[in-house]
Amino acid sequence: METLIPIINRLQEVFLTVGAEIIQLPQIVVVGSQSSGKSSVLESLVGRDFLPRGSGIVTRRPLVLQLVNVPPLEERRKQDNGNGAQHNSQNNYPGIKAEEWGTFLHCKNQVIKELDPEPIYLKIYSPNVLSLTLVDLPGITKVPVGDQPEDIETQVQEMILSYISNPNSLILCVSPANSDLATSDALKLAREVDPDGRRTLLVVSKLDLMDAGTDALEVLLGRIIPVRLGIIGVVNRSQHDLNIQKSLDDSCKDEQVFLQRHYPSLASRCGSRYLARTLSRLLMHHIRDCLPELKTRVTVLTAQYQSRLNSYGQPVEDHSATLLQIVTKFATDYCNTIEGTARHIQTSELCGGARICY
Ligand code: GDP
Ligand code: MG
Ligand code: NA
Repeated sequence: METLIPIINRLQEVFLTVGAEIIQLPQIVVVGSQSSGKSSVLESLVGRDFLPRGSGIVTRRPLVLQLVNVPPLEERRKQDNGNGAQHNSQNNYPGIKAEEWGTFLHCKNQVIKELDPEPIYLKIYSPNVLSLTLVDLPGITKVPVGDQPEDIETQVQEMILSYISNPNSLILCVSPANSDLATSDALKLAREVDPDGRRTLLVVSKLDLMDAGTDALEVLLGRIIPVRLGIIGVVNRSQHDLNIQKSLDDSCKDEQVFLQRHYPSLASRCGSRYLARTLSRLLMHHIRDCLPELKTRVTVLTAQYQSRLNSYGQPVEDHSATLLQIVTKFATDYCNTIEGTARHIQTSELCGGARICY
């Protein structure tokens, strides 16, 4: 599985460099009301807390976060040495002497007051992340505050809808355990674009903040609102944890202790680590489902560009071949792993305990 996702990431890069969203690639989009815990969930998935938190830029612009798994620095050094200074397919990051690093692909350096649909692309290379693409969206708001426009709710909803209506998006709804799930705006929006729940996953955050004597068991079991792809409860760092600079590692350990104590029957199907594993698995399934369509589109595009090239009547080097090669390699890898995947699906449990679609 981990070999497939980097190929999709590369495809996305290729399409970005040709400057168009020609192909809609799978990505995980995080949706929820303000302060529901979206950034915290993202942080726990990234395993790093250098994400801008609560600042205006995050709440006003979508953040496209591409996680790329790279070999540890020591391993990359060895590869560099073994191949001189040559760039090679084994090591795509020669000369970079950091264990992990980040790059901005698109970045307008400006102060943003208004909502801006133009995303910020942040790419993180690390041996410690799963290869995933995630989109953090501005939180759903009801009431304009400060200098926000009157129609802020509509504006944010439209922006969210534009991302989640992409049939290639997995929708990660974040809803806090201490608010009524039935009123979850995130789930409502997700249902508008994904009525069958084929690509919606529910994360119930703030399990630790429920009123004494109540718990989220019914919610997590999908008895309140069933969510086809699963319902995963998490405990992320509280504001106090952030103030005392509790590490993500410690937070993850404490989360496990909490789950074992309060939800022993569900502990193995809850928590940040389980969420990360579930997401990679869903993404892989999604990529698999998108593959035939993807290949058709590239073939059509290639034909279009070819005929345009031909119309110029001059011999021009055919760059579109590169694109096809990537897709073809992807298809081959896919065929090679499909057997293993089928076995994996058979043996793995359905996540979140939810069996029915909503
Ligand atoms: P966002 O606005 O949806 O991105 O929400 P944030 O991730 O920024 O979280 C908002 C606030 O809730 C922060 O103070 C977090 O520390 C806190 N928070 C998030 N998740 C949890 C959780 O599971 N438990 C507790 N106690 N606090 C949380
Ligand atoms: Mg946030
Ligand atoms: Na919500």
